[in-house]
Amino acid sequence: MLLMLVMAISLSGITENLQSPNKNFRLDFSVNSAGEPVYSLIYKDKTIIKPSKLGLELKNDPSLLTGFNIQKVETSTFDETWKPVWGEVSEIRSNYNELLVILEQKAEERTIKIRFRLFNDGLGFRYEFDKQPRLNYFKIANEMTQFALTGDHKTFWIPGDYDTNEYFYATTKLSEVDAGKVDGNGIGTHGYFAKNGIQTPLLMKTAEGIYISIFEAALVDYSTMQLLIDQTNFVLTSTLVPDAVGTKAYMQTPQHTPWRTVIVSDNAAELLESKTILNLNEPSKIADPSFIHPQKFIGIWWGMHVPNIMSWNYSHSPNIKLKDTDWSSLVPLPQHGAKTENVKRYIDFAAKNGFAGVLVEGWNVGWEDWAGNWKEDVFDFITPYPDFDVKAIHEYAVSKGVKIIMHHETSASVTNYERRIDKAIEFMKANGYDAVKTGYVGWIIPRGEKHDGQWMVNHYIRVAEKLAENRIMLDAHEPVRPTGLHRTYPNWMACEAARGNEFNAWSVGNPPEHETILPFTRLMGGPMDYTPGIFEIKMNYYDAKNTNQVHTTLAKQLALYITMYSPLQMAADLPENYEKRMDAFQFIKDVAVDWDDTKYLEAEPGDYITIARKAKGTSDWFVGAITDENARIAIVPFSFLDANQWYIATIYGDAATADWKENPMSYQIQKVLVNSKTILKQKLAPGGGAAISLKKAVKEEMKGLKKI
Ligand code: NOJ
Ligand code: CA
Repeated sequence: MLLMLVMAISLSGITENLQSPNKNFRLDFSVNSAGEPVYSLIYKDKTIIKPSKLGLELKNDPSLLTGFNIQKVETSTFDETWKPVWGEVSEIRSNYNELLVILEQKAEERTIKIRFRLFNDGLGFRYEFDKQPRLNYFKIANEMTQFALTGDHKTFWIPGDYDTNEYFYATTKLSEVDAGKVDGNGIGTHGYFAKNGIQTPLLMKTAEGIYISIFEAALVDYSTMQLLIDQTNFVLTSTLVPDAVGTKAYMQTPQHTPWRTVIVSDNAAELLESKTILNLNEPSKIADPSFIHPQKFIGIWWGMHVPNIMSWNYSHSPNIKLKDTDWSSLVPLPQHGAKTENVKRYIDFAAKNGFAGVLVEGWNVGWEDWAGNWKEDVFDFITPYPDFDVKAIHEYAVSKGVKIIMHHETSASVTNYERRIDKAIEFMKANGYDAVKTGYVGWIIPRGEKHDGQWMVNHYIRVAEKLAENRIMLDAHEPVRPTGLHRTYPNWMACEAARGNEFNAWSVGNPPEHETILPFTRLMGGPMDYTPGIFEIKMNYYDAKNTNQVHTTLAKQLALYITMYSPLQMAADLPENYEKRMDAFQFIKDVAVDWDDTKYLEAEPGDYITIARKAKGTSDWFVGAITDENARIAIVPFSFLDANQWYIATIYGDAATADWKENPMSYQIQKVLVNSKTILKQKLAPGGGAAISLKKAVKEEMKGLKKI
């Protein structure tokens, strides 16, 4: 439904207003006496964004900052419900009021448009540039969008960085942010660009208890928005990731920027429910999405991250060249992970336990001569190591009803990857692969480009499009963080683009609060391949002297399948570690990855999250509750269950003495009967969690079970 109301005016000094459909928000827009566009945002009568300037600086051209007058405004209303190919819910409502402002810069004979959309939970706006004689090709020196805040808010931040977001979060006031003091803690390629520079999605909490998320949606053909903080006046200003020659974006009209978003709530759980980022993205471009399958998978993977188990490398042969190395003459390492018999063992485990996919890393030549060498031709993506029998593995996988997931570690040599991707896709299709995990570890080639710059942003999309044409699903590691583009490209199912579980294996790891912050920050843009499900928590299991560990209890690892949403979920630990604890593994076997409904029951960033989800096409529910380093009682009201119906709840919880540090692997499993009136009080250990599966009970199964 589109209702259009057009008003033609040419006054300056006048303030335009827009209200959200539920009237919780008001946006004011005006042009000040210097001809600068200014907006502000009010939520439930409280100012969230004070009058803040909008505009852009151009390279070698007069700026688009001042000298504007309002030429025309248009308002409209939109209300539509759409069905995602997969998701946290089966239907999404997009309901907003829109204000389109056409601004004229008389002296330069140019116009720009700013389009504002006010949803029931926040604002999206973007700059649009129509084709016109005096604005055709232009280069952006910087975007100067301001977000003037009302105070020194509590902020969950990671340093501004053009190449990585694999940091854990600091929680400080805006005035206390110092990106220069943050250690990468295991990140290979990182670097801050300003002490007061931070990344988005940015979460803040005001003294009055209002949560504000500043981010962007639909990042296409533009570079990533990060923020600079004025630490005296609490004004955030956008700053874009530059390319190798310092340009922020190359534009040719007609073109527009991504949406800038401000999502606001006085209830943290409501923030997690927001669909505004998705609603600001374009509908799916994939006409026939039948090849896209949410799935759980295992992989020859964790064995390379923990000490002493597996290697990506086939041999010890540094200083090799891809094209003139005789691989068959090299001596294989006993721990090479991707060898055929090992892959078959993983296929067996997947088939036996109902997993659709097996990721295999280290299958292709090149790993020996990568680390530290910034060379262009590290991998070719089609030549297997001699002990990885492509045909035999394919046949074995088919016979077991499992698919191998391809791995393309690009080594961030993107020129090389783009040159070879067509052949790599042919290889995948010939050998039955319908999903690929890509990786971008290292500094980008072409040298000087950044992971989050315009050129790379376009690269990730090119890959997603090419894969969609070939009916292949994508999980990208080390890409730019997602901005809701999985609505447009639902085959681009997950990204890493944050600090995943792997850091727990080989670095100081992720503090216990990490997983209570990610859903409020990184996951605002889309699913994360966090790789949950680690059962063997301490690395001294593999190497007596190693003090690294996963910073959660085992039960919390189970809860992450619910709290860390992704349509691709890995059961990341080694099969032999699951085989020792099949009772707990049952939850991973049972848990769904696609949902009809989701209830965000309680949440506080940095502290706890409890979520319930209804598995697609069934009446089964699953609950995940997690806490930070503090023990707590999670409150789970089962009011979402069908009335007048008993459900068997299998509760996978922390044992009484569990503790992420001292006793992380101690869990207890309990079966009880619950109904829609039950309110469960579930104890979570320090760094702990609980996972619950709920099935409608039939009479015979109820015998002997306690009703609570
Ligand atoms: C980093 C990725 O996050 C990890 O999952 C992968 O195993 C390595 N790179 C090697 O590609
Ligand atoms: Ca990574």
